[in-house]
Amino acid sequence: MTWFDLTLEARDGSRHVVRYNPHTSECEGLSLPFSPGKFVAVPRVAKDRPLGKSRAPRILKIQLGLSCNYACAYCNQAVQIGDATVSKLADVEAFLAGLNGWIEGAPERIELWGGEPFLYWAKIKRLVPALAARFPTAAFSIITNGSLLDREKIDFIAQYDIAVGISHDGPGQYLRGPDPLDDPGKRRWIVALLAERPDKTGFNALLTRQHHDLRALKAWFAEEVGPDIFVGLEGVVNVYDAATALGTGRFEPAELNSLTRSIFEALVEDPNAFGLGERINEFYSSIQRRRPIEALGQKCGMDSPDAIAVDLRGNVMTCQNTGAKGGHKIGHVAEFDAIALDTATHFAFREECMSCPVVQLCKGSCMFLEGEFFKQSCANEFAFNFGVMMAAVWHLTGMVVVGVSKSIKISNPPQTLSAEC
Ligand SMILES: C[S@@+](CC[C@H](N)C(=O)[O-])C[C@H]1O[C@@H](n2cnc3c(N)ncnc32)[C@H](O)[C@@H]1O
Ligand code: SF4
Ligand code: SF4
Repeated sequence: MTWFDLTLEARDGSRHVVRYNPHTSECEGLSLPFSPGKFVAVPRVAKDRPLGKSRAPRILKIQLGLSCNYACAYCNQAVQIGDATVSKLADVEAFLAGLNGWIEGAPERIELWGGEPFLYWAKIKRLVPALAARFPTAAFSIITNGSLLDREKIDFIAQYDIAVGISHDGPGQYLRGPDPLDDPGKRRWIVALLAERPDKTGFNALLTRQHHDLRALKAWFAEEVGPDIFVGLEGVVNVYDAATALGTGRFEPAELNSLTRSIFEALVEDPNAFGLGERINEFYSSIQRRRPIEALGQKCGMDSPDAIAVDLRGNVMTCQNTGAKGGHKIGHVAEFDAIALDTATHFAFREECMSCPVVQLCKGSCMFLEGEFFKQSCANEFAFNFGVMMAAVWHLTGMVVVGVSKSIKISNPPQTLSAEC
């Protein structure tokens, strides 16, 4: 059993211990009412234990292509671009005509992905009305760099009630490329979309080695766009290529500490800062309901048979960020039963995740990363999620987590097995 002792420090300097088991979500020392939930074990994917996909997916991700008008320093798709299929408008017709052959029921969510999705405007214009007619209950969403909006697109977005996330790193935007907010012609449409659809539009920022100060991030958006605009976090940078490993994704140990502190402080000030309140609540609920680790899928959800990423030629990929001409092609909708997700590793097969105190929050980082890239991404995710956990504990106890150590829970007091991790 994996128990951790969290050492908490009160304002008066006194120390207290909370015991937490991320495998069973048992926790001793936090006042959360116990209300057991019902859970089912999720299937766990590995290269030698591939998983198929459901013909009735809850989430349908359509990759329009990986072309982009930006070249962000950390782009997780950069190494995949050569592997992306290039499709024509005619492929949209074939894709739509072929839908009946493989899909059953209606997805809850349909996500349109690039590259930069609005580079594929003609395809979006053909695809969305047809999908909306075919799946009237499905909710649409698009993640964009925000540089290609105009009146026609905003009207279309409103007509089909498309939720839009604009990726923008505030003070760190220069790592992504030009700032569309600096260009009056582009800014105008971003501002218009935010004003016209405030509940369905927001910014998403990614935290990097250079920019992970949430106070600075908040101040930047308040100053540049206004204090009431929703700014969420895409998270912390994961590492997909050597340039990111040496650059935006390589936090020094002191920088990892400041990332944790920054998340903690932002959430102490505002328990829902950057929309992270959801994560705190999920953590509380996991403890209250005793969510077992067996019920946890990967963070991105793409290990689930219920989520499928396809391109317009019907290829099925590991996820929307990968190209179908390379190793991430896991099948084709025309041979649906042969689809095999054999490119990913559920965190249950990673030793570090199975002995990690924040696994219920992190859910294993990216499922297809390996080696040094995984290690670096894991370090970044740990620092990020530990900040969330600290804030969750602080809001219940008013105390700061100052240490975590593994323990064996035998009797009171616990025996510490290893030094702080
Ligand atoms: C790959 S982009 C594609 C959509 C669009 N071009 C955009 O930038 O919004 C989707 C999201 O992935 C995020 N992203 C890119 N590289 C990443 C990385 N290395 N780690 C974590 N998120 C990343 C981006 O910030 C963006 O929010
Ligand atoms: S993160 Fe988005 S905008 Fe940036 S290069 Fe990648 S696909 Fe393009
Ligand atoms: S922080 Fe690292 S070890 Fe912990 S769950 Fe995430 S990826 Fe796994």
